[in-house]
Amino acid sequence: MIELDTIRSLTQEQALERAYAAKAALGKRLTILGHHYQADSIVEISDITGDSLELSRKAAGVESEFIVFCGVHFMAESADMLTSAHQKVILPDLAAGCSMADMATHEELESALDLLEGDLGLSILPVTYVNSSAAVKRVVGLHGGVVCTSSNAAQVVGWALAQGKVVLFAPDQHLGRNTSFKLGVPLEEMPLWDPRVHDGGAGQDAYRKAKVILWKGHCSVHTRMHKSDVDHWRTTDPGRKVLVHPECVFDVVQAADLAGSTSFILKTLESAPSHSKWAVGTEVNLVQRLAKIHPDKDIVPLSQVQCLCSTMFRIDPWHLCWVLENLQEGVVVNQVVVDSETRHWATVALQRMLDLSK
Ligand code: 13P
Ligand code: SF4
Repeated sequence: MIELDTIRSLTQEQALERAYAAKAALGKRLTILGHHYQADSIVEISDITGDSLELSRKAAGVESEFIVFCGVHFMAESADMLTSAHQKVILPDLAAGCSMADMATHEELESALDLLEGDLGLSILPVTYVNSSAAVKRVVGLHGGVVCTSSNAAQVVGWALAQGKVVLFAPDQHLGRNTSFKLGVPLEEMPLWDPRVHDGGAGQDAYRKAKVILWKGHCSVHTRMHKSDVDHWRTTDPGRKVLVHPECVFDVVQAADLAGSTSFILKTLESAPSHSKWAVGTEVNLVQRLAKIHPDKDIVPLSQVQCLCSTMFRIDPWHLCWVLENLQEGVVVNQVVVDSETRHWATVALQRMLDLSK
């Protein structure tokens, strides 16, 4: 096995050069998937890029033996569940997690469901954002629930609401609130469920009147953008449009012109007229790349604060070179494997999403 330390001594250019060489040697045996938040060098070497929904869909169609996933852990887990048993999904750095996904454990979700259904007698339909562990998705699948991503949240939550049950949306309160409000659910009918408080913390009355119960989780990158950032552009540059990701807080999404997934942001800017001006509220790597590839448009980050997803950024040329050269040597490092029982029920919830958003 090649040790990571031997690769770390390379310059970034050398690591990339060797990663490209290993990729070429592996040929059709390898597919590299890259999320839009990856650094430019990683996006450039990826065979397929996309938002979470596109990457899940495309992973399901990949035939190669090795799938190197340049993204975060829950994405690699989804890819493992949607591919066949003989295919191996590899995450170049296993420490590339998602702090939002870590805000809901399967034990916490099980105890929330026990309390809401058992003690309060509510009939709950759980919806989990794809940014959650396979173990959480398993609990959701077992309870007749469904996964959603930022690009199909309205479709999925709309379907869930139509089932006549109370929706428990985890783990991102902001995507849950923004989506449910857009579907006509008043804010007063969306109490928070705090997993760190035994009974959720909002009071039994609030849960009994709820249409949607929002898990108290958030993205530490998108919650760094504030309504004052939107106000700043509205006063200093009224012609500039504001485009944000729906993981941003409610006030920001309400004040923005448009909100949508990373691919929605990409496509909106691609089709925007030359000389149009945009303030974009999402991860900074993506905003900077979009500014670079559209020099005819004026694209700036919404916030002055650097909103970088540090865990996405863990996937760097050195880790990529390390996993690829090991594969070339016949050694599989950093494989992400979901056990079969978890896989079964989590895939039920994932597949329900894919069927709903065809
Ligand atoms: P997308 O599905 O929009 O790519 O979002 C994934 C994500 O983690 C955003 O923070
Ligand atoms: Fe998770 Fe936020 Fe990073 Fe997306 S941007 S992967 S939600 S921490």
